Amino acid sequence: MSILVTGGAGFIGSNFIIEWLQQSPSRVINVDKLTYAGNLQNLSCLAETEPHIFCHGDIADQGFIESLLTEHKPTAIINFAAESHVDRSIHGPGDFIQTNVVGTFNLLQATRNYWEKLEGEDKATFRFLHVSTDEVYGSLAPQDPAFCETTAFAPNSPYSASKAASDHMVRAWHHTYGLPVLTTNCSNNYGPFQFPEKLIPLMIINALNGKPLPIYGDGLNVRDWLYVKDHCAAIRVVLDKGRLGETYNIGGYNEKTNIEIVTTICDILDDLQPNPAGSYKRLITYVTDRPGHDRRYAIDAQKMKNELGWTPDDTFETGIRKTIEWYLNNLTWLESVTSGDYRTWMDRNYEQRNIG
Ligand code: NAD
Ligand code: TYD
Repeated sequence: MSILVTGGAGFIGSNFIIEWLQQSPSRVINVDKLTYAGNLQNLSCLAETEPHIFCHGDIADQGFIESLLTEHKPTAIINFAAESHVDRSIHGPGDFIQTNVVGTFNLLQATRNYWEKLEGEDKATFRFLHVSTDEVYGSLAPQDPAFCETTAFAPNSPYSASKAASDHMVRAWHHTYGLPVLTTNCSNNYGPFQFPEKLIPLMIINALNGKPLPIYGDGLNVRDWLYVKDHCAAIRVVLDKGRLGETYNIGGYNEKTNIEIVTTICDILDDLQPNPAGSYKRLITYVTDRPGHDRRYAIDAQKMKNELGWTPDDTFETGIRKTIEWYLNNLTWLESVTSGDYRTWMDRNYEQRNIG
């Protein structure tokens, strides 16, 4: 038995694969294009004997995906592969359209061709789970209720627009072709292996290097933070018990302003790794705001609780301390990612196993 994971060398995908293999004997086929965000070092804790097959390739390559599906016959596909950073989408939206829109389209077509040839129980139990974001719902005012599954889509950035397009296609492939799909829309994640372009790892690495901690605008934009392992557990629950064609909002009930996040990181670093120059808060620097910066995101995760019995294990307070400890204990990973050395490491270790 096997599952196919796309984007499994990225932040959430690699956490998902590590946890999946701890809990299930089924094989994982990991398809990743290895963009700047894909790092096979994230999976270096997996023993050679683990049933993990890495396949270097693009979800937009329909023929390649179809050949993998025919060869490995997975019982489910979990689609993490995406361009994922809002700032990059503002500066260069083309890659976001190519992977998140065209890529998801080609992946759906390949999946449909594979699924339509399955029979009996194999066809009935097959699942395509699409991992998406709460950013498809747009921005909330301070008094607005949190996003629920029926909130209208109103994406504001090229990133969220491309993810919204992918969510719509997944829905359409279910209603039109009967493809057995599930979609999850999750809030901001944080935890081990997050690329240091996103707020939390960027602030940790800059603080440790004595660099400015750039706060966009007034620092009062609100995000709803979820520890990555809670997100991975939620995805496993949706895969197991979710109703076909449904969407599920996943969030941690941890609404925080950006300035609260950054001062919390400084406080924990002051405790764990005090700097003789003084508190890390001295590095906080307000900078020009991000264009179209969404003011507030918040997730109502009642459907996950009431229908599937999922609630997060970690609060922001427990998750952020574990995360900072992880980065402090994995400084070589952080240095390798920021210097680009992880590319050389991957060339050395994975050249023979690439088939894309
Ligand atoms: P990430 O940028 O860390 O990883 C993305 C992975 O996808 C990388 O390994 C990259 O190499 C791979 N990839 C990119 N284009 C590809 C392509 N065309 N074919 C195959 N592989 C490709 O992203 P992440 O933060 O791990 O996010 C994973 C998914 O979860 C994304 O779909 C994202 O939209 C969604 N999501 C992320 C968050 C968050 O806070 N990070 C929150 C909600 C939803
Ligand atoms: P980010 O981690 O990029 O996630 P997203 O844009 O998907 O929510 O940013 C989280 C919040 O932090 C967002 O409001 C933008 C803000 N931010 C900063 O203030 N400074 C930074 O250097 C970064 C990367 C983000």
